[in-house]
Amino acid sequence: MNITVAKSAGFCFGVKRAVNKVYEQADIKNGPIYTYGPIIHNEEVVKDLEEKGVKALDSLEMLTDAQKQEKGTVIIRSHGVSKEVYEKLERAGFEIEDATCPFVLKIHQIVEEFSNDGFEIVIIGSSQHPEVEGIRGWCDPKHTTVIADYEEAQNYKPKSGKKVCIVAQTTFNYKKFQELVEIIQKKGYIRDIRVLNTICNATEERQNEAASLAETSDIMIVIGGRSSSNTQKLYEICKEECANTYYIQTAADLKLSETGHIDNVGITAGASTPKKIIEEVQKYVRTKL
Ligand code: F3S
Repeated sequence: MNITVAKSAGFCFGVKRAVNKVYEQADIKNGPIYTYGPIIHNEEVVKDLEEKGVKALDSLEMLTDAQKQEKGTVIIRSHGVSKEVYEKLERAGFEIEDATCPFVLKIHQIVEEFSNDGFEIVIIGSSQHPEVEGIRGWCDPKHTTVIADYEEAQNYKPKSGKKVCIVAQTTFNYKKFQELVEIIQKKGYIRDIRVLNTICNATEERQNEAASLAETSDIMIVIGGRSSSNTQKLYEICKEECANTYYIQTAADLKLSETGHIDNVGITAGASTPKKIIEEVQKYVRTKL
């Protein structure tokens, strides 16, 4: 029996880098360590880090509270933060370890430059998402708009000027991004529109690889949190290709009922699933089938 784990299963490059940085800092630093927001949406990892003394600060308010606490190192997660947050952290006397994904940092640079050049900035993405909040914080707030859907794109009117720079949240759907851009481009009165496709292909690669692995597997296992939307999407994609697709959070959830001949088992995992959990599932499957 072959067990194949998708190469793109689990953490993307940026998340892996950020999580490694926290563990590294927990090892080498003596003082308190904070992450600005949970480093990833995985309770096990956050708990494990807590045991190593790493606290997650959720907001600037918590940061204000933390100011009363002992100063230490604050790790910025892969989503990145606004310029204001950096400044506040510095002013409060924290040491900053920046684990912002380089692809997100690139967006900060782009919007800051275009904003300084007098462009209106349009961020295609979800306004509630921390990555978008961070990007927004590198632009002139009076001339920045976040657009998430068709209606918002239709209603969009640059507040002043005729120059618009459009960027995307890294995990935004490419097809929808193109459609929203097209709606804005059709507004004849905007003289200069710069479209920068800042979508990262890590999610798409994970989905494509999952689909082709599921296609050749007798059993397909998708690992990830129940509320993780990217894992749910992976499950749907795999289920279309392989009827025997399982959605589990850890090896303990796996109740394999297949009795026939199994040649190939495929495993993939959502973006917040640590390698350790993927390996445990792999080991479990080997002993059970
Ligand atoms: Fe991950 Fe960075 Fe892309 S955090 S999804 S590699 S933008």
